[in-house]
Amino acid sequence: MLLAVEALQTFYGKSHVLRDVSFAVPAGEITVLLGRNGAGKTTTLRSIMGLTPPRAGTVRFKGQDITGQPPHRVFRLGVGYVPEGRQIFPHLDVGENLRLATRPAGDGARWTLDRIFEYFPVLRERWRQQGRNLSGGEQQMLAIARALAGNPELLMLDEPSQGLAPRLVRELEALMLRLKGEGVTLLLVEQNARMALGVSDQVLVLGKGAVVFAGATTEFRRREAELKGRYLSV
Ligand SMILES: Nc1ncnc2c1ncn2[C@@H]1O[C@H](COP(=O)(O)OP(=O)(O)OP(=O)(O)O)[C@@H](O)[C@H]1O
Ligand SMILES: [Mg+2]
Repeated sequence: MLLAVEALQTFYGKSHVLRDVSFAVPAGEITVLLGRNGAGKTTTLRSIMGLTPPRAGTVRFKGQDITGQPPHRVFRLGVGYVPEGRQIFPHLDVGENLRLATRPAGDGARWTLDRIFEYFPVLRERWRQQGRNLSGGEQQMLAIARALAGNPELLMLDEPSQGLAPRLVRELEALMLRLKGEGVTLLLVEQNARMALGVSDQVLVLGKGAVVFAGATTEFRRREAELKGRYLSV
């Protein structure tokens, strides 16, 4: 297991959002986290990343306890995070956005700029464009490229397909599978269950801040009608 969270309890002030959340993310696979609006998906990623530290419970990455570590430390250990709504730097150009995000990998940088351009040729063309002048799809590509520049072993993506045209969603699916082929472990938050289930190995479902399903995608498929009806938007 690359990541293991155990009994997380996360609050915003007095509001108790994550209730005893436990799950594990196997290395080299794609795990998708599904759930309705407000179920606690983003809060789960924020708890792992140290942005909203849990009040109780533990987060282990490669066996090391990283609970409540500040985000820059979690990043440096090899966890990449693409937040909801992309959040690239709008006033920096593509090159600047990427240079700010570089983290040397332990055994030589794997995601060099050349490799990133091989995945996202459009970013080479847009090199001098400010982030705010990119299309929505290009901004999403830049956000993912920026996370890759940090050479993550675990890449967490929060609703990357949101707002993308169907053609770009298909490109995103192909990208995820390619990244998996490169050995990157993915934890993907999605509302678009159709896209997510097409690429995932493991499925987690959150309902009101608690894990209500965890298992292989094949097992999810067997119980799909019931789980969708109870815990997902249709
Ligand atoms: N900064 C915050 N302060 C207070 N409450 C918050 C904050 N962020 C989220 N919440 C609440 O925590 C709960 C979980 O929110 P979260 O954003 O984790 O859900 P989500 O599953 O990511 O939803 P969505 O699908 O809409 O992105 C919701 O009830 C939400 O209103
Ligand atoms: Mg969210």
